[in-house]
Amino acid sequence: MRQKIVAGNWKMNNDKKETTKLIKEIKKSIKILPLKNTRVIVAPTFVNLSSAVKKAKKSKVEVVAQNMHQAKSGAFTGEISANMLKSIGIKTVILGHSERRTYFGETDSILAEKVNSALENKLETIFCFGELLEDRKSENHFKVVENQLKNGLFHLEATAWKNIILAYEPVWAIGTGETASPEQAQEMHAFIRKIIEDKYNKEVAENVSILYGGSVKPANAEEIFSKPDVDGGLIGGAALKAEDFTAIIKAI
Ligand code: G3H
Repeated sequence: MRQKIVAGNWKMNNDKKETTKLIKEIKKSIKILPLKNTRVIVAPTFVNLSSAVKKAKKSKVEVVAQNMHQAKSGAFTGEISANMLKSIGIKTVILGHSERRTYFGETDSILAEKVNSALENKLETIFCFGELLEDRKSENHFKVVENQLKNGLFHLEATAWKNIILAYEPVWAIGTGETASPEQAQEMHAFIRKIIEDKYNKEVAENVSILYGGSVKPANAEEIFSKPDVDGGLIGGAALKAEDFTAIIKAI
């Protein structure tokens, strides 16, 4: 059975104090939840990862990174490598978020390198992708998503996929309040599973968790998560309040 996952991407929010406070609140509120086959993930900023890892220790909350550089080390001012993340106890990294693609010029080929570096360092990867509004309007969304997956991930061997989580995030739904309808999410997730099956096999396609991201909130989470190919969510704004994040976890 594939894993259900609710992941909070905190983006550039929360200082050290706010980070530990929010983790404490989430820990407390999910303690009594059964969480069978469900992972709860938070992604604070780089500077707060160490303290977040300490705060989340021996709890059901997993702390992951929002990004990393593809190189091992060297003259890359301001960057962080996979090995550095591992050295502070990080086991998972988000790669390819649309904000990284849009504001920091991360192309499919850079992302393929990042994925390789993460996996070589035994970091599980949450790989994000999704179409722009203009792609959907011009009905190119399936092609765009297929290309993002092909270029970023399809060079991997089938065995590598046990360390991949997918996060489909239509860019037009991120932070806009406008979410994809549950039917639109299901349609795309089923398409993604199909192209993975065509490229690899049914086992890889059935085992990979595919999260939906884009304006998920307590009010719409249950309906989105009820779809058979939606295995959870990558949550932005609503992950910044323990109450909302917990309500979304309960909806899974
Ligand atoms: O990583 C999370 C996504 O960008 C979704 O953000 O829930 O604020 O729309 P949002």
